[in-house]
This record gives sequence, C-alpha cells and structure tokens, in this order.
Amino acid sequence: MATSERHPFLQGLSKHRDAPPTAVVIFGASGDLTARKLIPAVYNLACDNLLPADFFLVGFGRKPVSDEEFRGHAAQAVRQFSRRELRDDIWGRLAAKTSYVAGGYDERAAFDRLAAHLVQLEKGLGREVQPLFYISTPPSVFEPILINLGASGLASRNAGQAHGAKVIIEKPFGRDLDSALKLNATIGSVFAENQVFRIDHYLGKETVQDLLVQRFANAIFEPLWNRNFVDHVQITVAEEVGVGSRAGYYEQSGCLRDMVQNHTMQLLALTAMEPPVSLDPEAVRDEKVKVLKSIQPLGIGPGGDVTRAQYGAGMTGGKPVPGYLEEPGIAPGSATETFAALRLSINNWRWQGVPFYLRSGKRMARRVTEIAIQFRAPPGTLFAEGDRFDIAPNTLSFQIQPDEGSSLVLNGKIPGLETRTQPVKMSFRYATTFGSNTPEAYERLVLDAMIGDSTLFIRGDEAEASWRLYTPVLESWQAQGRVGLESYASGSWGPQGSLALLARDRRIWREP
Ligand code: BG6
Repeated sequence: MATSERHPFLQGLSKHRDAPPTAVVIFGASGDLTARKLIPAVYNLACDNLLPADFFLVGFGRKPVSDEEFRGHAAQAVRQFSRRELRDDIWGRLAAKTSYVAGGYDERAAFDRLAAHLVQLEKGLGREVQPLFYISTPPSVFEPILINLGASGLASRNAGQAHGAKVIIEKPFGRDLDSALKLNATIGSVFAENQVFRIDHYLGKETVQDLLVQRFANAIFEPLWNRNFVDHVQITVAEEVGVGSRAGYYEQSGCLRDMVQNHTMQLLALTAMEPPVSLDPEAVRDEKVKVLKSIQPLGIGPGGDVTRAQYGAGMTGGKPVPGYLEEPGIAPGSATETFAALRLSINNWRWQGVPFYLRSGKRMARRVTEIAIQFRAPPGTLFAEGDRFDIAPNTLSFQIQPDEGSSLVLNGKIPGLETRTQPVKMSFRYATTFGSNTPEAYERLVLDAMIGDSTLFIRGDEAEASWRLYTPVLESWQAQGRVGLESYASGSWGPQGSLALLARDRRIWREP
C-alpha cells in the first residue's frame, strides 16, 4: 500500500522531523500574507506529507466569517498563490481540519473562546495538541494579542513540554531600538524565549541555508575567508517592483527598516559569522549576535557610511513607470527612502579592514539578491593588466535569487598562440543540478516552528543588535527630511551616492 493511503495527510513527517499534533492559529486570518504565503505554505506541506497526522488550521480575525467562508477563502488563496495546483483530495482533508474563530485582538473574551475551541479540537482527537500561534497582523496589535495570549492561559498551554505553546511573530519587529526592546519585554512577560519564533523569511530561502553548508561543509573556503585574502564583500538585494499597493505600510517603513535591518543583515551575519560549535539553534544564533555586535557604528552625513535615495520615474520591464511620489497613497513630498547603500566595518580578528558594502532598493534594474566575496588581487608581476591581460579579481558569488546558484570568477588563458587572459566563470545552478521545484521559505519556517527548531528564526538579542546599529541612522534621516535624499531613475542600479560610497575606497559595484 502506498504510504499516502495510510495517512490522512499522506504519510506524515519524515522520521527526522517529527512534529506533535498541532493547531496552527493564524491571527490576521484575512490578511494579505495569510493568503499569499501562509495558507499556500500549509497546503504545500500537506502535499509533501510533512504535516503531522493530527493537524488543525484555525483562522482568527476580526471579520465575522463562518468556518465555511474561511475555508472558501483559504481554497482561493491556494488556487491563486500556491506553487502547486489545488488537488481536491489533499485540500479536502486539510479543509476538514480548518476552522475559524472571530474576535477582536484586544477582546479578552475572544481569546477565551479560542481556548475553548482548542479544547474542543482536543476532545475530538482524544489527546493534547501543540498550539502554534502565528501573529500575522499589523504591528499595532502585536501587543494586545500577546497580552491576551498570556491572560487567557493560551501561552502557557502544555508548558514545559515539547508540545508547549509556541508563537511566530511576523515582521516588522519594532521600528527602532526602543520599540524592539519594548516588544521583546512584552513577549518575555508572556513567553519563554524558546517558545518564540521571530520570522525573517530570508532565512527560510534554500540558498540562504545553503550558505552555511557552502561555508562549513567545504574545507577550501575557511582558510581564505578572512582579511588576509578577502578584499571586500558586496551584498545586493535589488527588487524590480515598486511600492505597489503597500503605500500605507511602506511610508512608515522605508528601505532601511523594510529590507536592510532584517533581511540584508541576516545575509551579512551568515557570511561573516564564525563557525558555530554545532548546528544547535543557540550555537548558530550566538555567532550571529557576536558578529552583529562587532559592527562599528555607522558614520552619518557627507562622506559617511550610508546613503539613501528614492526612485524617480523610469522604465521597468520595457514599460514607463512613475516615480515614488506619484505612486498611489504616497504623501506629497514624502522623504521615505526606497534605496539604501552602506559600508559596514566589522571590527574583529577575521574582518578588520574588510569593508562590507550593502545595497538594497526597489525599482532597480532587475530583481537579484547576491552576496559577492571579492578576493585580493594577485601581485601584478606576471600578468600586469594591459592590452593582453584582462585580469579580474577572483570573486565568489552566491546568487540567492532568482536563478539560484553560485559562481567563481577566475582568470584563464584565451586559446591562441600568444598569451592573452580573460576572466572566466565557473558556475553552479540549482535548477540544473537539482531541478527547480524548490519549497517556499514559509514552508520551511512553519515546519521548523512546529518542530520547535529555532535555528532559522531571529533571537531577541539579534533583533536588538541590528536595531542598535541602525537607529541613529534612522533618527538622523528623520531629522533631515528630504535633505540629502537622492533620486535614481526607476530601472537603474541606484543613485550617484551609492557609486561614490565605493569610489571613495577605489572600488566599484559589480553588476550582478
Ligand atoms: C518583504 C518586504 O519583507 O520582503 C517587501 O516587506 C519585499 O517590501 C519582500 O518586497 C522581498 O521578499 P522576496 O522574498 O521577494 O525577496
């Protein structure tokens, strides 16, 4: 008999990744993220036989919808956003375990109703379930939800046991150091740190996880991975899309909060951290925190380490597009940055004197996320650059997305009777080697949280270390308004200031 016939969700988890019976409760059930990412993630886990045998999905939201309506909404989300088509058999089994509880986030009685609902599910099952609360709401209601989870006793369900309550918290995790500290304090008053899973979806991306494998499962890199061999590192997180329909959120955020403080810093931390003593979550996260804490305060102002800009009109995908200020919902004269470039100095034994250049922006020339390690140039005694010798610095780059893979630029001889050289590229492409059916980040993250593995989640002190670095920059930008805010054409690689940041160090951005 095929394993799929034995089990309500096909075959259940693999032996290595066993989750207890679980009820995933989504706060913000009718939100955009729930439809685009969370429900499709749960559905794909079901397709891959990775959900526990006893699994429940509970939507919680302010809208008074019935179980049936919520199931319809969820099915529609799968149809529209899942990487796999909706299969009636799999969806049918999942839908039968899907329900909805309506209530306000600050309404204590609603949390009692939720608690009673979970008791009902357990009665039907005849055993306890692990509640996994997923807070996917606007940040303004994080606090009341957390407090009500505490007051209703939901946060301490099955306390101290492997199937004890857990909470996943979506971004944004605060908007500066003070708010992050406050949020951590509220979380800490309700949950123990090992119950808390702060999401940064970049950590769920296959290629981001592969970074750890590439670094620490290959012996050839470690001897080179330091100030003796590395000239500098460039991290680019470029998007082609503009602000779209998210003006309300983005106007409160901007590129530094939206992309740099979290996603880009995670890429940096994994690139720069010391080898952890084990793959235990705390061992990995300790190393990330250590490296984040070694970053020097950023120089702000002319000639400093940071530059910001906003996109103007331009061309994207061959079509004319408006500038940020012309986008719907953007305040006239808004000073929100859609691009930031930075130079970071890590003051530790390994990296002192090796700049890490970061840039991120919307409406850039193309969508690409890349980490490039540029090695020092060889001594120029033999193949001095000139007509015959085109020598490029050796560069190891990890392409996080799209076209996932890595490549190494070497210099080689052009075939012929005289010695001419040219940079050549050795490439590894995921799609070619492994095929292209890669799980979405949220699938991995929801699964890990169910299992209680927090390696790919942000620890409280990690979020604080990053905010500590960026809060002075944000405060200074806020005070300056549009003064010092550059503009760049949509469809370009960013403003002059970004080029100047590297030019000052006699370097240039590579074109990823
Ligand atoms: C989100 C940001 O966290 O990441 C968005 O809020 C951004 O503004 C998105 O577009 C990018 O994610 P990805 O996975 O498409 O690179």
